[in-house]
Amino acid sequence: MKGLILSGGKGTRLYPLTYTRAKQLIPVANKPVLVRVIEAIRDAGVREIGIVVGYTAPEIREALGDGSRWEVSLTYIHQASPDGLAHAVRISRAFLADDPFVMFLGDNVIEDGISKLISDFAENKWNSQIVLKEVDNPSAYGVAQLRPDGRIERLIEKPEFPPSNLALVGIYMFDQHVFDAVDAIRPSARGEYEITDAIQWLIDHGHTVYPHIHRGWWIDTGKPTDMLEANSLVLEEIAPCLDDSAAVDSRSTVDSRVTLQAGARIVNSILRGPTVIGQDTVIENSYIGPFTSIYHSCQIRNCEIERSIILENSRVTDIDRTLRDSLIGRNATVKRSAEKPSGIKMNLGDHSTLWV
Ligand code: TTP
Repeated sequence: MKGLILSGGKGTRLYPLTYTRAKQLIPVANKPVLVRVIEAIRDAGVREIGIVVGYTAPEIREALGDGSRWEVSLTYIHQASPDGLAHAVRISRAFLADDPFVMFLGDNVIEDGISKLISDFAENKWNSQIVLKEVDNPSAYGVAQLRPDGRIERLIEKPEFPPSNLALVGIYMFDQHVFDAVDAIRPSARGEYEITDAIQWLIDHGHTVYPHIHRGWWIDTGKPTDMLEANSLVLEEIAPCLDDSAAVDSRSTVDSRVTLQAGARIVNSILRGPTVIGQDTVIENSYIGPFTSIYHSCQIRNCEIERSIILENSRVTDIDRTLRDSLIGRNATVKRSAEKPSGIKMNLGDHSTLWV
């Protein structure tokens, strides 16, 4: 069994953060989503993993190296342009050979991992198995229609009248027959080789495709609101931990669900968990509320922050209103200005959004 992680793509829905960074490297609860995906595959017993990368390849290689840090072996597969998930499978053929494999979208976060899925697929002689999740608004997703015997009959993209509430999650199992499918299909109306078309081809050509219904939560971190939601869910799950080199002064209150990473310093502040404060970050005279992740080497002074993600080397100082539901990139500055004339002043990147 091998693993294939899809980490190319453009990430347009996460602009401006993804102008300068691969979306799969944006941390959720201070750990890049891509590292969470690698750990989920490894924890299911799969150690040989291919990563499909696009124009952000150098950054992803630098962050992950050969994978030995996670006790896996990583092979990078270059996709010249993001021509679709089925295209990504097609260009990975030499790496995958005839082994069955699990394909995982590099921007998805899932509760409780994939061990059960992997063992299900290994025990049965199916050609493919796809992960489905019951959702409230199936019209927004790819939806599966099942046969009475439980097999998948049909996949429909964003149906107006959904035949079920079972949406496709970005995790799939395949055997080598998928290569016939990805060679046979044509690009869709949006110009991509769609994995749903490849799976439908398998079904139409007599191959067995079964569902695996996922009962826990699952988030596709495509949009900023999804990142914040994934951050909250993962923070709820992780066991809090105070690093020995983190320092909390006697005027501060840090509750039991807070994680402090190496060198974090808390001065005259209140921290309510679940929350994580990154390496060498300083929090001073501030309140950091639940569901907040502040990454490495940030400085937070004289402000209140709730349910937010702040990336490395950023400074947030002297803000007199609570900052909440916010996603702040790397090396950003948010501060109060006493200069006249008063008013709001900003240097915003392209595609930024500011709510005032
Ligand atoms: P998407 O979220 O569908 O696409 P995207 O990353 O380009 O984002 P946006 O729609 O905001 O522009 O991709 C899902 C995952 O699959 C993501 O990790 C990127 C990856 N991917 C590839 O590796 N190759 C591809 O050709 C495509 C379309 C996506």
